[in-house]
Amino acid sequence: MKKSLVSTFAALLFLTFHHHCSLFKNTRPSTAKAFNLNELATYGQYVYQKEKCAICHTFQVEKARHKIVSLDGLGGKYSGLWYYYMLADPQVVNPEATMPGYPHLFNTALDKRQFQKLTLGQTPEQLEFSWNQLIAQADTLKTEINDQGEQQVSHSEVLALIAFLQQLPASAGKIKKDSLEMARFKKEVYDWESLLADQTSLLHRTAANPENMAAGKVIFNNYCILCHGHQGQGGIGPNLTDPYWLHGGKPASVLHTVVYGVPEKGMPVWGNMLTPKEIGEIVAYIQSIQGSNPPDAKAPQGAKE
Ligand code: HEC
Ligand code: HEC
Repeated sequence: MKKSLVSTFAALLFLTFHHHCSLFKNTRPSTAKAFNLNELATYGQYVYQKEKCAICHTFQVEKARHKIVSLDGLGGKYSGLWYYYMLADPQVVNPEATMPGYPHLFNTALDKRQFQKLTLGQTPEQLEFSWNQLIAQADTLKTEINDQGEQQVSHSEVLALIAFLQQLPASAGKIKKDSLEMARFKKEVYDWESLLADQTSLLHRTAANPENMAAGKVIFNNYCILCHGHQGQGGIGPNLTDPYWLHGGKPASVLHTVVYGVPEKGMPVWGNMLTPKEIGEIVAYIQSIQGSNPPDAKAPQGAKE
């Protein structure tokens, strides 16, 4: 299970990398260090050093060894909300995590004087400009994390650290390793457009047959509970048992969402990783848990159907 998730995320990284390349483009050379970091991420690089994350981490894939975890190519891998949960308590996203949590970063405000030290050589006007950039970037990330209005996000160091982690590019070695892994992972390429359009396709037939819910539950447990909860009650992703849907709750809409994902919001593109039969089975399972009212359900998101 753990291993399959690791390879899933390696594949996800590869898949989402292209979507996030734009992250590296909106940067100004004045604050660029080793990578092209924006102002907020530059501050985050300082937080990373101050917190001594490097005791356990490296940015080079080949330098990873026992007890040293590589963060090579982390940019584009996880949503802001994922980091927001993870940095407070890593066990929320991975029950087996051994990494310590960093709750104090949520209460340490971003400090303009500290930022000034990181951007030495700027005139007061330049400092004012880049500090305003930083605040705007923090606001954007805050809005992304607080999409559902459930988080109390302040301008704290955790935002800067998240920006830094989200802007870590992948080394050439990492990209190669991931594409090899991806090639192994992805057995076949499917014509999802036709499968979705044809109501009599194996995809639709599998989803419509309630007998497939048991098989679907196994796959759901492997790939989906991390973000949607053990009973589909929601977590990082929405509650899948209530009548509220962001992307439509009819089987055809759910199939569409699972196949294409919502990569910019952190919902993976499963059409690149699972077969039509597997996705059909998962959607049969999702239908079977409608109205199940699991405990600790996430607040409704989207429109009622
Ligand atoms: C005592 C060692 C240790 C320290 C210190 C540490 N980490 Fe970790 N980190 C880990 C381990 C081990 C993992 C792998 C998952 C696990 O077992 O928790 C991990 C995983 C991660 C991941 C997920 C990587 C992935 O590809 O999924 C991120 C991101 C991360 N750490 C960031 C940080 C940051 C940022 C800091 C500093 C604020 C930090 N870590 C400090 C040990 C540590
Ligand atoms: C890494 C986290 C993550 C994983 C893993 C994940 N999801 Fe999601 N999922 C999300 C997020 C985040 C959203 C909300 C997308 C948005 O805001 O538009 C979502 C949305 C959805 C929706 C749309 C819900 C709606 O309200 O319209 C469905 C259906 C769904 N996921 C199914 C699945 C299935 C099935 C799996 C496993 C094969 C899965 N997800 C795995 C994060 C995840």
